[in-house]
Amino acid sequence: MGTFQDQGVVVTGAGRGIGRALATRAAAEGARVVVNDLDPVTAQAVADELGGTAVPGDVSSTDGVRAVIDSATEALGRIDVFFANAGIDGAGKDASGGDSLQAPDDVWDRIIDVNVMAHVRAARELVPRWLEDGQGGRFVVTASAAGLLTMIGSAPYSVTKHAAVGFAEWLSVTYGARGVDVHAICPQGVQTQMLEDAGPLQALLSRDSALPPEAVADAAVTAIAEGRFLVLPHPEVAGYYAARAADTDRWLAGMRRLQQKVDEAGAAL
Ligand SMILES: NC(=O)c1ccc[n+]([C@@H]2O[C@H](COP(=O)([O-])OP(=O)(O)OC[C@H]3O[C@@H](n4cnc5c(N)ncnc54)[C@H](O)[C@@H]3O)[C@@H](O)[C@H]2O)c1
Repeated sequence: MGTFQDQGVVVTGAGRGIGRALATRAAAEGARVVVNDLDPVTAQAVADELGGTAVPGDVSSTDGVRAVIDSATEALGRIDVFFANAGIDGAGKDASGGDSLQAPDDVWDRIIDVNVMAHVRAARELVPRWLEDGQGGRFVVTASAAGLLTMIGSAPYSVTKHAAVGFAEWLSVTYGARGVDVHAICPQGVQTQMLEDAGPLQALLSRDSALPPEAVADAAVTAIAEGRFLVLPHPEVAGYYAARAADTDRWLAGMRRLQQKVDEAGAAL
């Protein structure tokens, strides 16, 4: 029996990258899968590969995510598991030059919509349905290690990923005892288009430890089976997170040294 045997699973942003790996693994674990993406072509291609259903659409808006959830419910009968995975990295990420402090409001608005409000809007639709039929459900947010640790480079990305982790924690606290299981996936570098697009210094920083997306799906399935909230595909993140909590000033001093190294490397490029 697979972890998701006969369950209805939706994965947002599953046309490529981590979402595609999550959808593929869910199907291998026995799920009936709905593949969502903004891009209808990639959504359909992945759905065809998996024998699933493509439901393209923008999950960042209230109407968009409601339409995706309604179509997915029609296709699956019931949504048992929702992977809120779609995310963007925003502008101003390039640590070698772009100062993300100057990212304009429209960049902040968009990244807040996709990386935070999409999760809020999806949960707002799903949780009442899960409570009403009494069967509960599983809500899995793809956040980032940037949501636990703060990332060198992009303020909008780090801030929105912290908010994504915060919202997932709140959901777990508020609805966990009523049958809603929640998990937050917090990887460092993963070999996807997002990382490719992240600029030379981000690639340099994560090159040694960047994982294939399938490793993220493995870690997610293991954490779900073990009932753990935090999914840490890079196990070293647990140590960094503990160190940050134990001595925040020491941790910040280390991060400032890392930022200086990045600045020096940027100047040398
Ligand atoms: N790649 C990494 O290093 C890394 C590390 C930590 C966390 N993450 C997170 O993992 C998630 C997936 O990232 P990825 O690396 O696979 O990125 P990616 O850019 O390769 O894939 C993201 C997919 O999401 C889709 N998408 C974007 N906005 C959407 C929207 N509003 N509605 C529906 N689909 C949308 C895109 O079309 C794309 O197919 C993101 O939340 C990202 O922040 C990535």
